[in-house]
Amino acid sequence: MSKTIIIKNGRVIDPSQKLDKVSDVLISDGKIISAGKPVKNKPGAKIINAKNKIVVPGLIDIHTHLREPGHEEEETIASGCMAAASGGVTSICCMPNTHPVIDNQTAVEFILLKARNEGIVNVFPIGSVTKGSLGEELAEIGELKKEGVVAISDDGNSIMNAMVMRRALEYSKMFEIPVIAHCEDTSLSKNGVMNEGYVSSLLGLRGIPKESEEVMVSRDIILAGLTKGYLHIAHVSTKGTVDLIRNAKKSGVNITAETCPHYFVLTDECVKNYDTNTKVKPPLRTKEDQQAIIEALRDGTIDCIASDHAPHTIEEKNKEYDLAPFGLIGLETILPLTITYLVKTKKLTLMQAIDRLTRCPAEVLNLKNRGTLKPGSIADVSIIDIEKEDTIKEFVSKSKNSPFLGWKLSGFAVTTIVGGKVVMDNGKIISG
Ligand code: DOR
Ligand code: ZN
Repeated sequence: MSKTIIIKNGRVIDPSQKLDKVSDVLISDGKIISAGKPVKNKPGAKIINAKNKIVVPGLIDIHTHLREPGHEEEETIASGCMAAASGGVTSICCMPNTHPVIDNQTAVEFILLKARNEGIVNVFPIGSVTKGSLGEELAEIGELKKEGVVAISDDGNSIMNAMVMRRALEYSKMFEIPVIAHCEDTSLSKNGVMNEGYVSSLLGLRGIPKESEEVMVSRDIILAGLTKGYLHIAHVSTKGTVDLIRNAKKSGVNITAETCPHYFVLTDECVKNYDTNTKVKPPLRTKEDQQAIIEALRDGTIDCIASDHAPHTIEEKNKEYDLAPFGLIGLETILPLTITYLVKTKKLTLMQAIDRLTRCPAEVLNLKNRGTLKPGSIADVSIIDIEKEDTIKEFVSKSKNSPFLGWKLSGFAVTTIVGGKVVMDNGKIISG
């Protein structure tokens, strides 16, 4: 494969430089040489015609669950990477709730080694805050950082003990990595399976109140204020959480946040068909929450759009609603859902949407030279056809648990480039 790639005549959009211009991108030896300037053809260079397409920094998903080690039947590092490439995502940050949990150096080393050998996109591991993600005893956070984790999180579980969270935030300051908080007061969420409200009463399903999230977000904001630690709120699902984060940012707390497409596309009304692929934690909320989340993405209160890609097998999901596991896959739909429901509807500009998928996640996790097309940065690039319409029919991911199967969406990645290498072209994965 040629080491020089020229992407011609695309609409180059790079929020990190506020660049939006029809022009070319030059890649050589895995780096961006120029973006947004005309490039003359070079002998031996691979030319990609991007006319009528947009050319953006590769998407970064800061909330992905790969199931290796432990549940390779749901997803492996290799299959998760392929799903990402197929969705235009060039970097994934994987959550530590595997079996065993990623709470020690050897486990981090395993992920990095596997990713290097078998992964076609960049994999950044997130380490566990506590040993076994049990919420009791802190993991060796300094060691995890040394081995290469980009954040710490007990995602999937909640850190109910405030003292443990306080210490985690102190360490986050010391080691300069964020604590990604899965905010759920489990004494309030209990055995709930969906949002607590009108629809849960109608369906006779146990509810998870908004307050289960908001109580924990409030506590963690207070602790971030106390410790000056760095707090990142995962998967924001309620209007109350948005208000809390907006105020915390105003008062100078070191806080960032993400939401996921299912929170700005779906509501608890979608549970009415009892499709277990709508069962997710936190649960799908109401129209009012959805509007607040969209406004927060617009004004920057919520920094990032993340997938919370959570694979589960058909057998696991093929249970009654009460018994099915929480989670849905998202790597292959994060982009078309954002384009279809935020950009096409004019709720966000294209520049804002790409910003929340590229520059912001790179900044939140301090991923240097990524999420940008600045000269010298790593050549992770996505080429997207905004007008391409398609019905979601199949998935590259090992798991198929998506409520969006059969949905007609627009705005798909057509080419994905990782470190100057084309890994997906026209829907085809190139792994060799
Ligand atoms: O729905 C969810 N699924 N929420 C989480 O926090 C964890 C995730 C999973 O690991 O399946
Ligand atoms: Zn979570």
